[in-house]
Amino acid sequence: MMNSLLSVCDIKDDVKDILDLASKIKAGEMEDKPLEGKTLAMIFQKSSTRTRVSFDVGMYQLGGRAIFLSSNDLQMGRGEPISDTAKVLSRFVDGIMIRAINHDDVVELAKHSDVPVINGLTDLEHPCQALADMLTIKEHFGDWKGRKICFVGDGNNVSNSLLLIAPLLEMDMALACPKGYEPNEDIVKIAKEYAFENNTEIIITDDINIALDNVDAVFTDVWVSMGDEKETEQRKNDFAPFQVNSDLMSLANDEAIFLHCLPAIRGQEVTSDVIDGEQSVVFDEAENRMHAQKAVLYYYLKD
Ligand code: CP
Ligand code: NVA
Repeated sequence: MMNSLLSVCDIKDDVKDILDLASKIKAGEMEDKPLEGKTLAMIFQKSSTRTRVSFDVGMYQLGGRAIFLSSNDLQMGRGEPISDTAKVLSRFVDGIMIRAINHDDVVELAKHSDVPVINGLTDLEHPCQALADMLTIKEHFGDWKGRKICFVGDGNNVSNSLLLIAPLLEMDMALACPKGYEPNEDIVKIAKEYAFENNTEIIITDDINIALDNVDAVFTDVWVSMGDEKETEQRKNDFAPFQVNSDLMSLANDEAIFLHCLPAIRGQEVTSDVIDGEQSVVFDEAENRMHAQKAVLYYYLKD
């Protein structure tokens, strides 16, 4: 296990153990207050509801505490080097969770930190979301092996982490996106290596019919991620054929479930009848952020 969780790649060999622990934690099978006396610093350069609250409550339930640090208020926001911030926070806290604009800044923070750094979303990845999503799939289907998931929409942070985690859990994954919105090439290369090692398949296509064939779980995310706002009108046009509506859901298996990391915009990437319908598990998925992250916190912060 690497010292920090910046990418799904960092837990390549531990992902099943972390998810097993998350299931046990959710079932109440966890020692009392394993992180008593531990403190997590939480740096946010972007908005958050789920990540902020689930990490904060998760630390509290594990017996520790979390400190919310908005980058607007930190000296980092006034130009203090990330390296100095990392060294100083390491003298006070036992772990740092960061939601950052640039993934490279999180790599820099981890490089200079003496305590574990956990990625709470960057422009490149959202590994904690992927863990929660996989916990949700396991709860619903009993196992991951042999299942196929499909992400419909932007080749973004959320889909990048799904591309990496799906083959590690022996699942096939398709990603349907408009031309020009394909996922990061380096991520796809690694995901295909993982797929080769685990005898699974990764499909990247702009053809919804190909992507949704024999799919057990349909994922989407906003068309305009935080930071992409100036492309809003262009994106609304480009993504319109990729809206997850009942017609699109009918291309997946009858018993397929619908997932969305949230926040969602009803009427854009997903219609109300789908996200509020019986195939949707989005609120179980949101709840699972906390259970999955408690397992991560235990792994990284427990003595
Ligand atoms: N899904 C997710 O990360 O939500 P927040 O932006 O509310 O943290
Ligand atoms: N892709 C979205 C995820 C939000 C949780 C974003 O980066 O804004």
